[in-house]
Amino acid sequence: MLINERLDRLGENPFTRLNALLAPIAPRTNQRPVLLSVGEPQHAPPAFLAETIASNSDLWNRYPPVQGTDDYRLAVTEWLTRRYDLAPGSLDPARHALVLSGTKEGLYLATQMAVPQVEQGKKPVVLLPNPFYLVYRGAASMAGAEIVPMPATRETGFLPDFDAVPPATLERTSLAFLCSPANPQGAIASLDYLKRAITLAREYDFTLIVDECYSEIWDKAPPTGALEACQALGQGFANVLVFHSLSKRSNAAGLRCGFVTGDETLLARFQRFRSFGASQVPMPIQAGAAALWREESHVEANRALYRTKIDIAERLLGGRFGFYRPEGGFFLWLEVGDSEAAARRLWQEAAIKTLPGNYIGVPDASGRNPGDGFLRVALVHDETTLTEALERLVQVL
Ligand SMILES: Cc1ncc(COP(=O)(O)O)c(C=O)c1O
Repeated sequence: MLINERLDRLGENPFTRLNALLAPIAPRTNQRPVLLSVGEPQHAPPAFLAETIASNSDLWNRYPPVQGTDDYRLAVTEWLTRRYDLAPGSLDPARHALVLSGTKEGLYLATQMAVPQVEQGKKPVVLLPNPFYLVYRGAASMAGAEIVPMPATRETGFLPDFDAVPPATLERTSLAFLCSPANPQGAIASLDYLKRAITLAREYDFTLIVDECYSEIWDKAPPTGALEACQALGQGFANVLVFHSLSKRSNAAGLRCGFVTGDETLLARFQRFRSFGASQVPMPIQAGAAALWREESHVEANRALYRTKIDIAERLLGGRFGFYRPEGGFFLWLEVGDSEAAARRLWQEAAIKTLPGNYIGVPDASGRNPGDGFLRVALVHDETTLTEALERLVQVL
């Protein structure tokens, strides 16, 4: 009953809304439809992924350990230690990593664990960057929390301003989400920013989820991470859960594999919670995934391809639609006036699907939805398709 009520209040998923918006419209062009609405990687994962899965085919009969194989957990803690320059030994594979069947399920389930029924005698709050990845809002709503959106606008550097949240709200906060590099705006949180957010999480004792699933797709400099900020603060990983995925880093969205790291007490509870019903990741998949975390040359090549796409976008859109080069990730966040009208026109006149920014935001306390007026455009297609699609976009808008 409760689930149905909360689901009804949550409403539709942004992509269902987009389909409903465009369904009555037939493109007036014979041009090939291009979906710039979905952030689905189009590059191939490296060949050794399939080879490693095949060479571990003797493991398909096994029930996989819910927390992940020892080797997978070793591969990810070694990767984190290298990537974030952590002190050797600060991560223990047995305590600091859990495999996930993609980070989506992990983000959703961690929210169910982090949100109690009552916080300080009141309804618990979940702080969301606004706009956001749809799962943050879905998970918080289904957990029964009050959602407090934190505007992440041009004025705030496209990241939420934690210091603008009133202390009375922080006192009943159970969980806060942060995404860096941010989907959709591509902003990267600095070390000082992360330290501040972690300090607030500890002061007010809430869980801080840092979603770093775009950490390896960057333009000029590799983003710092929440574990690095924890190390700089020097109190272990208390209150922090960090999510990483192979979906974007290794173009393996269909593999469904990622991990969560951070606070070992939270991770132990999360493992217990997940043991009652969450997806396990098949052992051949974990073997392939471990091989991906151990290899960087395919990640560098992937990053270079995304940089080329941003170059194309800058050449075609620079100086218009509030264009800026995203610091990380592969989305453009373009200012187009009326978001839905722009999405409709692009579909009708150019067979291009884009996502209205207001669908991935909610009105904040002032009544303003910071996604209003924006379109999210995914730069995932090959150079020719992308060039052609962006040329059409410029013509129409
Ligand atoms: C910000 C963000 N976090 C998490 C995910 C989930 O990725 P996956 O479940 O493939 O790891 C996505 C996917 O699009 C995303 O955009």
